[in-house]
Amino acid sequence: TLIPATLIPGDGIGPEIVDAVVAVLDALGAPFAFDTQDAGMAGIEAAGDPLPQATLDSIARTGLALKGPLTTPSGGGYRSVNVRLREAFKLYANVRPARSLIPGGRFENIDLVLLRENLEGYYVAHEHFIPVGDDPKAVAVSQGVTTRIGCERIVRYAFEYAVANGRKKVTLVHKANILKAITGLFLEIGRNIAREYEGRVAVDERIVDACAMQLVMNPWQFDVIVTTNLFGDILSDQIAGLVGGLGMAPGANIGEKAAIFEAVHGSAPDIAGKGIANPLALLMAAGLMLEHVGRQDLAAKLKVAIDRTLNEDRVRTGDLGGKATTRELTAALIARLH
Ligand code: NAI
Ligand code: MG
Repeated sequence: TLIPATLIPGDGIGPEIVDAVVAVLDALGAPFAFDTQDAGMAGIEAAGDPLPQATLDSIARTGLALKGPLTTPSGGGYRSVNVRLREAFKLYANVRPARSLIPGGRFENIDLVLLRENLEGYYVAHEHFIPVGDDPKAVAVSQGVTTRIGCERIVRYAFEYAVANGRKKVTLVHKANILKAITGLFLEIGRNIAREYEGRVAVDERIVDACAMQLVMNPWQFDVIVTTNLFGDILSDQIAGLVGGLGMAPGANIGEKAAIFEAVHGSAPDIAGKGIANPLALLMAAGLMLEHVGRQDLAAKLKVAIDRTLNEDRVRTGDLGGKATTRELTAALIARLH
C-alpha cells in the first residue's frame, strides 16, 4: 500500500533536485504517493503566499513531506516559511546526520547525528530595542525561552533515537555555567532522562564552545549530540562541514503532527537552471523519510547505491570535485539500483 506524502519542489535548484530524487525513489520502489504542492516563490506566484493554505492542508492530511529549498523573499514582510511550518506542525526535533561518504576529505569515517531543539530558545524572537536619548537602538534586548516540556521532549527523542538506531552515546551540549536558567534547565532534565537509559545508552556532556573545538580536533568521540535551538543551528552546519559541505547534508524536522524532510542547503540561485546541482542531500533526506515510515530496508539499499555511485563509479557533481551533471548522477544511481 502506498503512503501519502506531500512533495514541495521549491525554488531555484529545488525542482531540478526534486525531479532527480523522485526518479531515484521510483527506481528504488519507494512506497510514497506524492501530492505536489507549492511553497516559496512558487507559492507567491500561485497563491500570493509563500506558504499557501492548500500546502498546509496537504501536510496536515499526509503528516509527511519532502521539501525542496525555498527562497526567502527579502522585504515584503513575509515570515519565514520554515518557521511557520515548524510552528504549525510543532516540529520540535531537527535531526541532522553527518556521515562521510567520500574518502580523502578533511575527515574520514565520520558518522554522527545532531538533534537540535527546533521551537524554543532564542528563536522565539522576543526581541526589542530600548531608546536612549535620540538613539532609538541604543540597547537591544532578546529573551530566550526553554520549557520543561520542550527539554524533555527533545532529550527523550535523542535517547529513543539512539536506542532505535543502535547508537551508543548521547552528548548533552549546553552553556549551563553561564546561562544557568535557559540552558541549565536543559542540562538538568537531560541528566534526569539519561538515568532511565542507564546500561543501554551512555550519556556525556559538553559546554558548547568546548564542543565546537572538539568537533574539529576529534569528531569521532561523538555519536548523538542533543542541544538547544541556537547552539544546534550553529553546530549542525559545523558537522555538515566535517563531511563535505551542504550538498551532502540532509535534515528531518520531526513533530507531533507531521514530519518534514529536506536538504540543509538553500535554493542555490547561483547554479539554478544549469543542471549541475547535487541532489544527494535531498536524496539522503528522502532516505530519512523512508526510515521514518519503517522502510529501513529501502533506506539501506539507497545508502549502498549512493556509496557505490560516488566511490566505485566515481560519478560526482561539481561541488564534490567531479564533472557529472544532476542527470548523469541520477542515471548512475538508477543504474546501481537496477
Ligand atoms: P545556498 O545553500 O542556497 O547556497 C550556498 C552555496 O552552496 C552556493 O554557492 C550554492 O551554489 C551551493 N549549493 C547549495 N546547494 C547545493 C547543491 N545541492 N549542489 C551544489 N551546490 C550547492 O545558500 P544561500 O545562497 O545563502 O541561500 C539562497 C536562498 O536559499 C536564500 O533565499 C535563502 O533564504 C534560502 N535558503 C533556504 C533554505 C530552506 O528552504 N531550507 C535553507 C537555507 C537557505
Ligand atoms: Mg541554520
